[in-house]
Amino acid sequence: MRVAGRSAAAVLDQLCAMVEPGVSTWDIDEAGGEIMSEMGIKSACKGYRSGHRIFPSYTCLSVNEEVVHGIGTKERILKEGDVLSVDVCIREGGFVGDNCRTVPVGDVSPEVGRLLRVTEESLYVGLVNALHKNRVGDISHAVQQYVEAEGFAIITNFVGHGVGRTLHEDPQIPNFGRAGTGVQLRKGLAICIEPMVNTKSAGIRMAKDGWTALAEDNLPSAHFEHTLLVDEGTPEIITLPPGYDNATKFLLSKIEQFSLDIDLNH
Ligand code: MF3
Ligand code: CO
Repeated sequence: MRVAGRSAAAVLDQLCAMVEPGVSTWDIDEAGGEIMSEMGIKSACKGYRSGHRIFPSYTCLSVNEEVVHGIGTKERILKEGDVLSVDVCIREGGFVGDNCRTVPVGDVSPEVGRLLRVTEESLYVGLVNALHKNRVGDISHAVQQYVEAEGFAIITNFVGHGVGRTLHEDPQIPNFGRAGTGVQLRKGLAICIEPMVNTKSAGIRMAKDGWTALAEDNLPSAHFEHTLLVDEGTPEIITLPPGYDNATKFLLSKIEQFSLDIDLNH
Protein backbone atom coordinates (compact mmCIF):
# COMPACT_ATOMS: atom_id res chain seq x y z
CA MET A 1 0.00 0.00 0.00
CA ARG A 2 2.85 2.40 0.82
CA VAL A 3 4.54 1.77 -2.51
CA ALA A 4 1.30 2.25 -4.45
CA GLY A 5 0.45 5.38 -2.44
CA ARG A 6 3.79 7.02 -3.21
CA SER A 7 3.48 6.30 -6.89
CA ALA A 8 -0.07 7.68 -7.02
CA ALA A 9 1.21 10.86 -5.37
CA ALA A 10 4.19 11.15 -7.74
CA VAL A 11 1.91 10.94 -10.80
CA LEU A 12 -0.53 13.45 -9.28
CA ASP A 13 2.28 15.89 -8.54
CA GLN A 14 3.59 15.79 -12.11
CA LEU A 15 0.14 16.24 -13.64
CA CYS A 16 -0.70 19.17 -11.36
CA ALA A 17 2.56 20.83 -12.46
CA MET A 18 1.29 20.75 -16.08
CA VAL A 19 -1.83 22.76 -15.29
CA GLU A 20 -1.75 26.16 -17.02
CA PRO A 21 -3.85 28.17 -19.47
CA GLY A 22 -3.82 26.68 -22.99
CA VAL A 23 -3.31 23.04 -21.95
CA SER A 24 -6.10 20.59 -22.82
CA THR A 25 -7.41 18.02 -20.37
CA TRP A 26 -6.62 15.41 -23.04
CA ASP A 27 -2.91 16.37 -22.88
CA ILE A 28 -2.90 15.96 -19.12
CA ASP A 29 -4.58 12.55 -19.29
CA GLU A 30 -2.20 11.34 -22.03
CA ALA A 31 0.78 12.49 -19.95
CA GLY A 32 -0.70 10.55 -17.02
CA GLY A 33 -0.85 7.40 -19.13
CA GLU A 34 2.75 7.87 -20.29
CA ILE A 35 4.10 8.52 -16.80
CA MET A 36 2.30 5.43 -15.46
CA SER A 37 3.67 3.33 -18.28
CA GLU A 38 7.24 4.56 -17.64
CA MET A 39 6.83 3.77 -13.94
CA GLY A 40 5.55 0.29 -14.77
CA ILE A 41 2.20 0.90 -13.06
CA LYS A 42 -1.40 0.81 -14.24
CA SER A 43 -4.31 3.20 -13.95
CA ALA A 44 -7.05 1.94 -11.63
CA CYS A 45 -9.54 4.24 -13.43
CA LYS A 46 -9.09 3.11 -17.03
CA GLY A 47 -11.39 0.16 -17.58
CA TYR A 48 -13.24 0.74 -14.27
CA ARG A 49 -16.75 -0.67 -14.63
CA SER A 50 -19.97 0.83 -13.36
CA GLY A 51 -22.88 -1.24 -14.64
CA HIS A 52 -22.32 -1.55 -18.40
CA ARG A 53 -20.14 1.54 -18.61
CA ILE A 54 -16.35 1.39 -18.77
CA PHE A 55 -14.29 4.43 -17.76
CA PRO A 56 -12.18 5.42 -20.80
CA SER A 57 -9.33 7.57 -19.36
CA TYR A 58 -6.19 7.11 -17.26
CA THR A 59 -7.22 9.83 -14.82
CA CYS A 60 -10.32 11.78 -13.78
CA LEU A 61 -10.06 15.44 -14.82
CA SER A 62 -12.94 17.67 -13.73
CA VAL A 63 -13.05 21.36 -14.69
CA ASN A 64 -14.96 24.05 -12.72
CA GLU A 65 -18.57 22.85 -12.17
CA GLU A 66 -17.53 19.28 -13.01
CA VAL A 67 -17.43 17.62 -9.60
CA VAL A 68 -15.81 14.21 -10.19
CA HIS A 69 -15.10 11.58 -12.86
CA GLY A 70 -14.53 14.07 -15.70
CA ILE A 71 -13.01 12.71 -18.92
CA GLY A 72 -10.15 14.60 -20.59
CA THR A 73 -10.91 15.83 -24.12
CA LYS A 74 -8.96 17.73 -26.79
CA GLU A 75 -11.70 20.37 -26.86
CA ARG A 76 -11.42 21.25 -23.18
CA ILE A 77 -8.66 23.84 -23.11
CA LEU A 78 -7.89 25.21 -19.65
CA LYS A 79 -8.13 28.97 -19.28
CA GLU A 80 -7.08 31.48 -16.66
CA GLY A 81 -9.49 31.44 -13.71
CA ASP A 82 -10.59 27.79 -14.15
CA VAL A 83 -10.02 25.13 -11.52
CA LEU A 84 -9.09 21.55 -12.38
CA SER A 85 -9.54 18.50 -10.16
CA VAL A 86 -6.83 15.97 -10.93
CA ASP A 87 -7.76 12.54 -9.54
CA VAL A 88 -5.14 9.82 -9.89
CA CYS A 89 -5.65 6.23 -8.83
CA ILE A 90 -3.13 3.57 -9.73
CA ARG A 91 -2.42 -0.10 -9.20
CA GLU A 92 1.06 -1.34 -8.31
CA GLY A 93 2.20 -4.67 -6.92
CA GLY A 94 -1.42 -5.72 -6.54
CA PHE A 95 -2.45 -2.69 -4.46
CA VAL A 96 -4.23 0.58 -5.21
CA GLY A 97 -3.25 4.16 -4.30
CA ASP A 98 -5.77 6.97 -4.82
CA ASN A 99 -5.37 10.74 -4.46
CA CYS A 100 -6.75 14.01 -5.80
CA ARG A 101 -6.13 17.75 -5.73
CA THR A 102 -8.03 20.68 -7.22
CA VAL A 103 -5.63 23.24 -8.63
CA PRO A 104 -6.17 26.79 -9.88
CA VAL A 105 -5.42 27.60 -13.52
CA GLY A 106 -3.43 30.83 -13.25
CA ASP A 107 -5.16 33.33 -10.98
CA VAL A 108 -8.64 32.49 -9.68
CA SER A 109 -11.16 34.73 -7.93
CA PRO A 110 -10.81 35.12 -4.15
CA GLU A 111 -14.05 33.15 -3.60
CA VAL A 112 -12.84 30.23 -5.73
CA GLY A 113 -9.49 30.36 -3.92
CA ARG A 114 -11.38 30.12 -0.63
CA LEU A 115 -13.34 27.10 -1.92
CA LEU A 116 -10.08 25.28 -2.72
CA ARG A 117 -8.51 26.19 0.62
CA VAL A 118 -11.52 25.18 2.73
CA THR A 119 -11.92 21.87 0.88
CA GLU A 120 -8.26 20.96 1.36
CA GLU A 121 -8.41 22.04 5.01
CA SER A 122 -11.48 19.86 5.56
CA LEU A 123 -9.51 16.85 4.31
CA TYR A 124 -6.89 17.36 7.05
CA VAL A 125 -9.53 18.15 9.67
CA GLY A 126 -11.26 14.85 8.84
CA LEU A 127 -8.05 12.90 8.51
CA VAL A 128 -6.79 13.55 12.04
CA ASN A 129 -9.95 11.77 13.25
CA ALA A 130 -8.96 8.54 11.45
CA LEU A 131 -7.76 7.05 14.72
CA HIS A 132 -7.79 3.48 16.04
CA LYS A 133 -11.12 2.91 17.88
CA ASN A 134 -12.74 6.08 16.51
CA ARG A 135 -15.75 5.59 14.25
CA VAL A 136 -16.29 6.50 10.60
CA GLY A 137 -18.82 9.13 11.73
CA ASP A 138 -16.07 10.97 13.60
CA ILE A 139 -14.32 11.66 10.28
CA SER A 140 -17.60 12.41 8.47
CA HIS A 141 -18.83 14.85 11.10
CA ALA A 142 -15.53 16.72 11.31
CA VAL A 143 -15.42 17.26 7.53
CA GLN A 144 -19.06 18.32 7.29
CA GLN A 145 -19.04 20.80 10.12
CA TYR A 146 -15.82 22.41 8.89
CA VAL A 147 -17.11 22.90 5.34
CA GLU A 148 -20.59 24.07 6.33
CA ALA A 149 -19.22 26.54 8.88
CA GLU A 150 -17.51 28.23 5.92
CA GLY A 151 -20.79 28.41 4.00
CA PHE A 152 -19.98 25.80 1.35
CA ALA A 153 -21.97 22.65 0.49
CA ILE A 154 -20.83 19.05 1.12
CA ILE A 155 -21.70 16.64 -1.66
CA THR A 156 -23.55 13.58 -0.40
CA ASN A 157 -23.86 11.60 -3.67
CA PHE A 158 -20.24 10.44 -3.50
CA VAL A 159 -18.18 9.21 -0.56
CA GLY A 160 -14.68 8.14 0.42
CA HIS A 161 -13.93 4.45 0.77
CA GLY A 162 -11.77 1.64 2.03
CA VAL A 163 -8.99 0.71 -0.39
CA GLY A 164 -6.64 -2.23 -0.84
CA ARG A 165 -6.34 -4.76 -3.63
CA THR A 166 -9.34 -3.04 -5.20
CA LEU A 167 -10.19 0.65 -5.51
CA HIS A 168 -13.47 0.69 -3.61
CA GLU A 169 -13.70 -1.45 -0.49
CA ASP A 170 -15.65 -1.24 2.75
CA PRO A 171 -16.18 0.86 4.73
CA GLN A 172 -17.69 3.84 2.94
CA ILE A 173 -16.34 7.13 4.32
CA PRO A 174 -19.08 9.77 3.87
CA ASN A 175 -18.20 13.44 4.23
CA PHE A 176 -21.33 13.99 6.31
CA GLY A 177 -22.74 12.32 9.39
CA ARG A 178 -22.80 12.14 13.17
CA ALA A 179 -19.81 11.72 15.45
CA GLY A 180 -19.70 8.43 17.34
CA THR A 181 -21.68 6.52 14.68
CA GLY A 182 -20.68 3.99 12.03
CA VAL A 183 -18.10 1.21 12.06
CA GLN A 184 -15.11 1.35 14.33
CA LEU A 185 -11.76 2.06 12.71
CA ARG A 186 -8.83 -0.26 13.38
CA LYS A 187 -5.09 0.25 13.22
CA GLY A 188 -3.84 -0.72 9.76
CA LEU A 189 -7.14 -0.13 7.94
CA ALA A 190 -6.50 1.65 4.62
CA ILE A 191 -9.04 4.29 3.62
CA CYS A 192 -9.43 7.17 1.20
CA ILE A 193 -10.86 10.38 2.60
CA GLU A 194 -12.10 12.64 -0.17
CA PRO A 195 -14.28 15.67 0.55
CA MET A 196 -16.13 16.98 -2.52
CA VAL A 197 -17.45 20.50 -2.01
CA ASN A 198 -19.77 22.72 -4.05
CA THR A 199 -19.87 26.50 -3.85
CA LYS A 200 -23.57 26.92 -3.05
CA SER A 201 -25.82 23.89 -3.33
CA ALA A 202 -24.90 20.24 -2.80
CA GLY A 203 -26.96 18.87 -5.68
CA ILE A 204 -25.38 17.18 -8.67
CA ARG A 205 -26.57 16.07 -12.11
CA MET A 206 -24.96 13.70 -14.58
CA ALA A 207 -23.43 14.84 -17.87
CA LYS A 208 -24.41 13.16 -21.15
CA ASP A 209 -21.16 11.15 -21.15
CA GLY A 210 -22.63 9.06 -18.31
CA TRP A 211 -19.61 9.61 -16.03
CA THR A 212 -19.06 13.29 -15.29
CA ALA A 213 -20.93 14.57 -12.24
CA LEU A 214 -21.82 18.27 -12.51
CA ALA A 215 -22.66 20.78 -9.78
CA GLU A 216 -26.36 21.60 -10.03
CA ASP A 217 -25.63 25.25 -9.23
CA ASN A 218 -23.11 25.31 -12.14
CA LEU A 219 -20.57 26.93 -9.82
CA PRO A 220 -17.03 25.63 -9.23
CA SER A 221 -16.56 22.45 -7.20
CA ALA A 222 -13.47 21.17 -5.37
CA HIS A 223 -12.13 17.73 -4.43
CA PHE A 224 -9.10 16.70 -2.35
CA GLU A 225 -8.14 13.12 -1.45
CA HIS A 226 -5.48 11.11 0.34
CA THR A 227 -5.03 7.41 0.99
CA LEU A 228 -4.04 6.72 4.60
CA LEU A 229 -3.52 3.97 7.15
CA VAL A 230 -5.40 4.24 10.42
CA ASP A 231 -3.10 4.25 13.43
CA GLU A 232 -3.30 4.81 17.18
CA GLY A 233 -1.73 8.22 16.86
CA THR A 234 -2.03 10.34 13.75
CA PRO A 235 -2.91 8.39 10.60
CA GLU A 236 -0.13 7.56 8.17
CA ILE A 237 -0.81 9.42 4.94
CA ILE A 238 0.63 7.15 2.26
CA THR A 239 0.00 9.36 -0.78
CA LEU A 240 2.97 11.51 0.21
CA PRO A 241 4.07 13.96 -2.51
CA PRO A 242 7.67 13.79 -3.74
CA GLY A 243 10.04 15.42 -1.26
CA TYR A 244 8.33 14.00 1.82
CA ASP A 245 9.53 10.81 3.50
CA ASN A 246 7.60 11.12 6.74
CA ALA A 247 3.82 11.24 7.03
CA THR A 248 3.78 13.15 10.32
CA LYS A 249 6.14 15.82 8.98
CA PHE A 250 3.92 16.19 5.93
CA LEU A 251 0.81 16.54 8.09
CA LEU A 252 2.55 19.09 10.32
CA SER A 253 3.53 21.13 7.26
CA LYS A 254 -0.13 21.19 6.16
CA ILE A 255 -1.29 22.19 9.65
CA GLU A 256 1.21 25.02 9.55
CA GLN A 257 0.43 26.03 5.96
CA PHE A 258 -3.25 26.50 6.79
CA SER A 259 -2.80 27.51 10.46
CA LEU A 260 -5.18 24.70 11.36
CA ASP A 261 -6.37 24.36 14.91
CA ILE A 262 -5.24 20.74 15.19
CA ASP A 263 -3.25 19.30 18.07
CA LEU A 264 -1.40 16.09 17.21
CA ASN A 265 -0.64 15.16 20.83
CA HIS A 266 -3.71 13.09 21.61
N1 MF3 B 1 -10.74 8.55 -7.04
C1 MF3 B 1 -11.96 8.15 -7.68
C2 MF3 B 1 -12.83 7.40 -6.71
O1 MF3 B 1 -12.41 7.08 -5.64
C3 MF3 B 1 -11.61 7.34 -8.88
C4 MF3 B 1 -12.76 6.88 -9.67
S1 MF3 B 1 -12.20 5.91 -10.99
C5 MF3 B 1 -13.44 6.03 -12.14
O2 MF3 B 1 -14.01 7.14 -6.96
F1 MF3 B 1 -13.12 5.20 -13.06
F2 MF3 B 1 -14.62 5.74 -11.61
F3 MF3 B 1 -13.49 7.23 -12.60
CO1 CO C 1 -11.20 7.66 -4.10
